[in-house]
Amino acid sequence: MKIQYKISNESYDILIQKNINNTIKKKLDSLHSDKKVLFVYDKQVNKSIVKKVIKNFKDSGCMLIALEFQGKKKNKSEKSLFNLLDIMIDNKFTKRSIVISLGGGVLGDIAALAASLYYRGTIYLNIPSTMTSIIDSCIGGKTAINYKNIINSIGNYYHPKTVFIFHEIIKLIPEREFIAGIPEIIKCGLIKKNNILKILKSEKKKILERNFQIIGNLCKETLKTKIFFFKNDIYEKNNRLMLNFGHTFAHSIEMSTEFISKNEIFRHGEAVGLGMMCEIYFVNGKENSIFKSVRDLLMDYKLPVKISDKKFKFEEQTLTNNIFKNIFLDKKKISRFPRFISLKKIHKPNIANLSDDNLILETINKII
Ligand SMILES: NC(=O)c1ccc[n+]([C@@H]2O[C@H](COP(=O)([O-])OP(=O)(O)OC[C@H]3O[C@@H](n4cnc5c(N)ncnc54)[C@H](O)[C@@H]3O)[C@@H](O)[C@H]2O)c1
Repeated sequence: MKIQYKISNESYDILIQKNINNTIKKKLDSLHSDKKVLFVYDKQVNKSIVKKVIKNFKDSGCMLIALEFQGKKKNKSEKSLFNLLDIMIDNKFTKRSIVISLGGGVLGDIAALAASLYYRGTIYLNIPSTMTSIIDSCIGGKTAINYKNIINSIGNYYHPKTVFIFHEIIKLIPEREFIAGIPEIIKCGLIKKNNILKILKSEKKKILERNFQIIGNLCKETLKTKIFFFKNDIYEKNNRLMLNFGHTFAHSIEMSTEFISKNEIFRHGEAVGLGMMCEIYFVNGKENSIFKSVRDLLMDYKLPVKISDKKFKFEEQTLTNNIFKNIFLDKKKISRFPRFISLKKIHKPNIANLSDDNLILETINKII
């Protein structure tokens, strides 16, 4: 399967393939590169996968530097970024050298930023290895590090020459992480007409078995939906904002639960599931049919529909207050009010303000 990302002057392929085989070698052979490769891979990726990718570089006659990296928030730092840049400088990389990452969203964001900065741009290739990176961060070109405790505060837009999505990587993703990717897929089914919701409802067994055709189709539909919303709005002024559906509440839930337990209670995708329920409830002021169908779908995949589903100790009022407070840190706001994506009707998202404090509190109570 293949999707083409083609917006303005940027054009590249997203390949969705069952096995790695010699796919990367074929691409390397077709690039006009100097065959110097900095390959950065996440420590948690199964070593058999790392070996198969490395074989592609060797078969293509590349000079390879392989570097292990641990994907985590703390490592999305200037230290990691400059480590990559130092390696490129020390090994006399040129503008025609290659940076290739095999990892999650953290590694992808840093590797793309390093590739964009070195001599104002070297060749970048991406092999996403987590559900977030496969269905979300691998396209769209956003790069970043966290700096001075501000998430994604330093970054730019830079696109890979190819994204490789491999089913043999998806098959090895741990169960909870795999399932946590589903809410972002549901999101794309809610904001645009496509086959996603139908597939999620009718093919649950095959999805959970990670059937190649079905998972491949879901990835394809999800990424095509993302590309649709990027069109004419790569810098997120209007259309692209729709992809933030569920995220105003989700970010606040993540921040508030992290604060209470000092550990990540919710995976980002799990919080997005709760966030979508909140944003549907807020705009309708009741549990309407969309709210119920999203809740049913999340429950079908054993995803949390209440914060208490995660069974950690919290004081209800403190958590409600924190979620309420953190909503006002929303990055998208342009006035006093946080903005969110309202979905009154299915496939008809638009931007709105969260301007009713009592309704925000009532909404939070729905998912506590
Ligand atoms: N650029 C964008 O458009 C965009 C979009 C969404 C998110 N992001 C960024 O992505 C990051 C989150 O991404 P993430 O959830 O992939 O985080 P991550 O990269 O930290 O990976 C999560 C965990 O999974 C592990 N891991 C990676 N591959 C694995 C595999 N195959 N099997 C088992 N474990 C594996 C990692 O070591 C890490 O512990 C955030 O920094 C966020 O800002 C960027």
